[in-house]
Amino acid sequence: MTAPQSNPHPVRVAMFSAQPYDRRFFEEARAAGGPGRGDIAIDYHDTALDIGTAVLAQGCGAVCVFVNDVLDAAVLERLHGGGVRAILLRCAGFNNVDLAALARLGMFAARVPAYSPEAVAEHALAMILTLNRHTHRAFNRVREGNFALDGLLGFTLHGKTAGIVGTGKIGLATARILRGFGCRVLGYDPYPSPAFEALGSMVPLDELLELSDIVSLHCPLTEATRHLVSHATLGRMKAGAMLVNTSRGALVDTAAVIEALKSRRLGALAIDVYEQESALFFRDHSSDIIADDVFGRLTSFPNVLITGHQGFFTVEALREIAAITFDNLACWRSGGACANMLPSPD
Ligand code: NAI
Repeated sequence: MTAPQSNPHPVRVAMFSAQPYDRRFFEEARAAGGPGRGDIAIDYHDTALDIGTAVLAQGCGAVCVFVNDVLDAAVLERLHGGGVRAILLRCAGFNNVDLAALARLGMFAARVPAYSPEAVAEHALAMILTLNRHTHRAFNRVREGNFALDGLLGFTLHGKTAGIVGTGKIGLATARILRGFGCRVLGYDPYPSPAFEALGSMVPLDELLELSDIVSLHCPLTEATRHLVSHATLGRMKAGAMLVNTSRGALVDTAAVIEALKSRRLGALAIDVYEQESALFFRDHSSDIIADDVFGRLTSFPNVLITGHQGFFTVEALREIAAITFDNLACWRSGGACANMLPSPD
């Protein structure tokens, strides 16, 4: 990406997909003070960014976006035409950004690469434990006076093998917790991970799939990892294993996973992310008729647990996201070096 441009003037930021908690943590961070936080106006828009809503950023110097905002070439061009020069991602993943268009337009773009890896890792564990010991079902049963244990049978996590696909920050944090539970951990990553070697063994993906009782995905979504979990990879997994995805929905071919659940080859599925989540997540649809039949099928399985992309959702992580986003903005405005800039296109 191009170097930041010096921009000492007051700046207006259009924040898209802004939820009440975003406003709370960004306003708290602004009130706490810090470089360049005083002369910024933030327009909070609850709508997502796409080609139709990009006009809301007209006259703004920067936009602040989240995981399901669209930043393809057409949207970036429209933003640029309206005066936007900086893209501030308040998330780690940047699979929703067209890096080539960004470079061509010479726009600044920075993300929050690490806010609380432990927050996501802890959520992955919450999902594993809930799904395995059926605490979500037990909660409802007990409230109805039903103390029968039938259907709540789980397995002892201690001694099981957990496979971590992607041994970066979140994968490592997840491996550390699983080790604490007495699991043997295997890791797969195309890049060597000496830190992981201290916790478990790095193995080829096929071996990880064959040996793991739990497979947890912690790699980014790229063209190489799209549908990493497919008919072929599901066929290599241990029969009855649990699959956990807290990374990005499109790592998993949902149709293939549904087949594997129906054939009982896949034992259980925990997902915090879903390939078509942008039409559903972060909104209350409880009074709507949900048209997504694939999602509807997923919710019908007793051995599927779904949460709506909340892995990051802790007080500590939201504080960190707001603080680092303001720092990235200050970097752009001062023209200084910014360690969090998106990489150049391949
Ligand atoms: P990271 O960059 O520290 O680690 C990612 C690892 O994946 C790296 O070690 C990389 O070498 C590896 N990798 C790349 N290609 C791979 C492949 N083909 N197969 C296996 N591994 C591969 O990133 P971090 O912070 O650990 O985040 C991981 C992902 O978690 C993010 O990309 C994001 O999609 C997701 N995430 C989800 C959140 C949630 O709320 N559910 C919140 C934050 C991140």
